Amino acid sequence: MARILVAYGTKHGSTAEIAARIGERLSAAGFDTDVLHANLGIEVTKYDALVIGSPMYAARWLPEPALLLIANRERITNIPIALFSVGMIDVKHPGKLREEHDAWVEKAFNQEDVQLSVVSTATFKGAYSRRNLPFYLRIIDAILRVTPNGDYRQWDEIESWGDELASTLRSELEAPASDELEQTSC
Ligand SMILES: Cc1cc2nc3c(=O)[nH]c(=O)nc-3n(C[C@H](O)[C@H](O)[C@H](O)COP(=O)(O)O)c2cc1C
Repeated sequence: MARILVAYGTKHGSTAEIAARIGERLSAAGFDTDVLHANLGIEVTKYDALVIGSPMYAARWLPEPALLLIANRERITNIPIALFSVGMIDVKHPGKLREEHDAWVEKAFNQEDVQLSVVSTATFKGAYSRRNLPFYLRIIDAILRVTPNGDYRQWDEIESWGDELASTLRSELEAPASDELEQTSC
């Protein structure tokens, strides 16, 4: 049975719950799935596919999921990878989270010498509570109402992506590697 890692970063728990739901869908589709808080102790090469997600904070991923990919990038070029970002900007500005995600991924992970094989990407609205902010920011945020308070996670979208991802990964993992194809055609 193919092994899949779902690794996430989180500050306040909403991305952890999204990762858990994605993991449940992958398990239901028959994969042996581990859902773990991202950390550099994870041996990524023992997995057949990686799903890595982070909330956006100031248009960046949290360090742990980003470092997991960056530190291992030379060892995972042949492993299918799916990425997801969680944020609130889409609540007021639909489509902006995808722009933030793409800009961040381009800056952080795209290196000329190392290409990650990203097979799927998703962005999800998250959850935000002003109460988690430091006091002075809470006041500013309450006055300016920059970010709407509340839980905007759309579980049907998250589950659909988990199901689609299961079929994408199934075909990726069943497809013969390109060097095997060359050998067959000789
Ligand atoms: C200080 C701060 C900065 C944030 N920056 C962004 C951002 O740049 N883009 C975005 O879409 N959401 C942003 N958010 C919203 C979070 O990404 C969102 O609340 C997410 O669900 C939090 O995930 P977590 O509960 O897993 O930590 C920010 C939230 C806070 C408190």
